[in-house]
Amino acid sequence: MLKLILIFAALFLITKASCPNGSLEWQTNCFFFNNNTIGFASAEIECVQNGGHLVSIHDVFTNTLLAQQGGIYFHESTITDFWIGLNNMMPSGNWTWMDGTPLDFTDWAPGEPKNVTGNNCATLSINDGYWRSENCFKTKPYICKVDKSFYEPSTTPITTTTSGYPAFVQCPYPFAYFQPTHSCYGVGSLTVPSNWSVAEQYCLGYGGHLASIHSVQEINFLASYLYVSSTQYWTGAFSNDGGKTWKWSDETPWDYNPWAGQYPNMKSNACGFLWGSAIGDTPCSTLFRMICKKQL
Ligand SMILES: *[C@@H]1O[C@H](CO)[C@@H](O)[C@H](O)[C@H]1NC(C)=O
Ligand SMILES: *[C@@H]1O[C@H](CO)[C@@H](O)[C@H](O)[C@H]1NC(C)=O
Ligand SMILES: *[C@@H]1O[C@H](CO)[C@@H](O)[C@H](O)[C@H]1NC(C)=O
Ligand SMILES: *[C@@H]1O[C@H](CO)[C@@H](O)[C@H](O)[C@H]1NC(C)=O
Ligand SMILES: *[C@@H]1O[C@H](CO)[C@@H](O)[C@H](O)[C@H]1NC(C)=O
Repeated sequence: MLKLILIFAALFLITKASCPNGSLEWQTNCFFFNNNTIGFASAEIECVQNGGHLVSIHDVFTNTLLAQQGGIYFHESTITDFWIGLNNMMPSGNWTWMDGTPLDFTDWAPGEPKNVTGNNCATLSINDGYWRSENCFKTKPYICKVDKSFYEPSTTPITTTTSGYPAFVQCPYPFAYFQPTHSCYGVGSLTVPSNWSVAEQYCLGYGGHLASIHSVQEINFLASYLYVSSTQYWTGAFSNDGGKTWKWSDETPWDYNPWAGQYPNMKSNACGFLWGSAIGDTPCSTLFRMICKKQL
């Protein structure tokens, strides 16, 4: 173990620093150790707002490194573990990483994952480096992982394909910035589900609209941002001609097909909800939470 620590120390010295101060550079990523203790979903949102996701782990070296460094960063005696980006809240019930990378390495403690309802999120223990399944609503520190290229805008493919939007803009909390669309997205603070028109009013209150969707990138961003709560969200899609044509409430063009396989199927006036990474239609009086979008 000591030898491993020394090897890591040597690697740090020779790595070209391009991660922001206060973060740890390792391979092609920057790791942010956040010592504020929050729930899993809030932690993921914080990470997305900063250009990354809760950390995914694909080899034993990174796992050991994070456990060791976690012990240094999270030195409060009450802290024994921290959130990593692994959870089994997707409909498949399989354990998956929030950043969409494959589950090609695991380090579960004996008897884990427990596979009991309510323990759907994974933590990494500082003392033994093992993963354990925990209640996602517990509050814990967390590690975000951001690809280094995020800090080198001129070399990221995303920047070269868009018209030079800034890599990061601070959106008003709790909204998150997404560079390819140069927009802020958020579910606001309204936790009570509402019908479509009340939801649209709510977004107007934030200076936005219910979200319109114009690309696979955008819908995937929304899916990764939202799926932690496994529920449906109103989008800005609506039809007021009996389902013949569809529009977005922010009056942007209907230039992308966001429908899930069998949708739309209402054949009446209806509104569009996001579930996973596609939309479906349902009566506008249905009660859902909403995803707002504010174009900058
Ligand atoms: C990062 O920290 C180093 C050493 O403390 C300092 O010289 C440098 O200016 C800092 N860089 C930024 C961007 O804050
Ligand atoms: C979190 O980290 C900051 C910066 O290192 C430190 O000032 C603060 O005391 C820490 N908070 C806790 C609760 O450990
Ligand atoms: C879930 O995992 C099982 C076993 O690895 C696999 O066969 C199945 O295809 C996965 N389901 C989904 C939806 O990915
Ligand atoms: C939980 O389910 C996974 C995948 O089905 C399995 O590999 C693991 O052994 C199960 N854990 C326990 C404690 O039964
Ligand atoms: C939505 O809710 C508001 C307030 O409860 C109500 O006035 C309105 O008629 C509802 N609209 C629909 C389409 O259900």
